[in-house]
Amino acid sequence: MRRILIDTDPAYTVNIGVGLIERLGSSIQELEKQPESVMIVTDSTVGPLYAKQVQDALSHYHTIVHTFPAGEAHKTPETLLGILRAMAQHELTRSDLVLALGGGVVGDMAGFAAAVFQRGMRFIQCPTTWLSAVDASVGGKTAVDLPEGKNMIGAFHQPAMVVCDVETFKTLPELRFADGAAEMIKHGVIASPELFARMKDLTWRLDPETTVAMNVEIKRSFVLGDVHDQADRQMLNFGHTIGHAIEAWSDFKLSHGQAVAIGMVMETRAARKLGLSDLDESELIAVLNKNGLPTETEASSEEILEFALHDKKRRCSGVTVVIPERIGRARLQTLDMETFKRYIEAGRS
Ligand SMILES: NC(=O)c1ccc[n+]([C@@H]2O[C@H](COP(=O)([O-])OP(=O)(O)OC[C@H]3O[C@@H](n4cnc5c(N)ncnc54)[C@H](O)[C@@H]3O)[C@@H](O)[C@H]2O)c1
Ligand SMILES: [Zn+2]
Repeated sequence: MRRILIDTDPAYTVNIGVGLIERLGSSIQELEKQPESVMIVTDSTVGPLYAKQVQDALSHYHTIVHTFPAGEAHKTPETLLGILRAMAQHELTRSDLVLALGGGVVGDMAGFAAAVFQRGMRFIQCPTTWLSAVDASVGGKTAVDLPEGKNMIGAFHQPAMVVCDVETFKTLPELRFADGAAEMIKHGVIASPELFARMKDLTWRLDPETTVAMNVEIKRSFVLGDVHDQADRQMLNFGHTIGHAIEAWSDFKLSHGQAVAIGMVMETRAARKLGLSDLDESELIAVLNKNGLPTETEASSEEILEFALHDKKRRCSGVTVVIPERIGRARLQTLDMETFKRYIEAGRS
């Protein structure tokens, strides 16, 4: 088992390993204050697979399982309200615990419910997808979608602990591997040639414990000291400025990872063509394709620009983009609107 300390305030540990669900009881015993009740929040796919196992491991506590329908379409205020009302009906108090068992959708929503229930209670992240293990479960961002946009309401709320049992990945469909791979390749490009190499020869799949740990270390390094998403943390947006636009353009038919994959290629090409970097995108394209990810889109540069300017992170005065300088190293640069338009055009061609 690996243990990584995320030294935010409050600090928490990320435990990564095999068979950790069975040991959840002793993990919870490490918490400073013991809960009476633990509410396991999960979705309709993950619940039938793992909720019973979690309940068995937590036989010392009073447990409640709350299940909602799986999928991003259910990351809504209605589902959130369902979680909050179940918490109230089961008379949970601030000293009890919420355990998010599932992918990023479950983590984001259970985390947000924990952030606002009685003005905040503790929660544990138990990520069961690659994407949530390497990205969503670390950093303390929680959110719910609105019809007007993804993650429109949310809060920063750090988990009390993250417990990643890598055995749960075994039941994931292949597309979910690719989705996680996109974020891991992103981490490789911005921070780690070693991780990039692992993604290139597919050895990342052979030793999930090490792979997740490498990614958590990278995410940790960007979120520490920048918990509220200002400077350094923006580096994690590599591929996302264009990726989010393509995801929205496709009406979310492309998965997040697929859209980010295309976004990374376009952002790398754009930076090169504008003379902001020497990094060629061919190596990136090869790694993405090898991991089953797309690297091209039919969206026009006008369409991408339109969706990109709708994104919540755009400031009128300019757009900050991530420039990959070489594999393992990137920098931030703010482009004025005129240059940003040229950047999108250069990325598309
Ligand atoms: N908070 C953050 O910092 C952050 C970062 C990145 C992404 N996110 C959010 O994460 C979400 C995407 O996360 P995701 O890709 O994990 O999606 P997800 O939670 O919808 O999971 C994908 C699908 O896989 C199923 N599943 C989960 N674990 C499984 C398992 N072990 N075996 C079989 N099926 C399983 C789920 O039921 C779901 O149908 C998005 O809503 C995104 O906004 C948040
Ligand atoms: Zn992402």
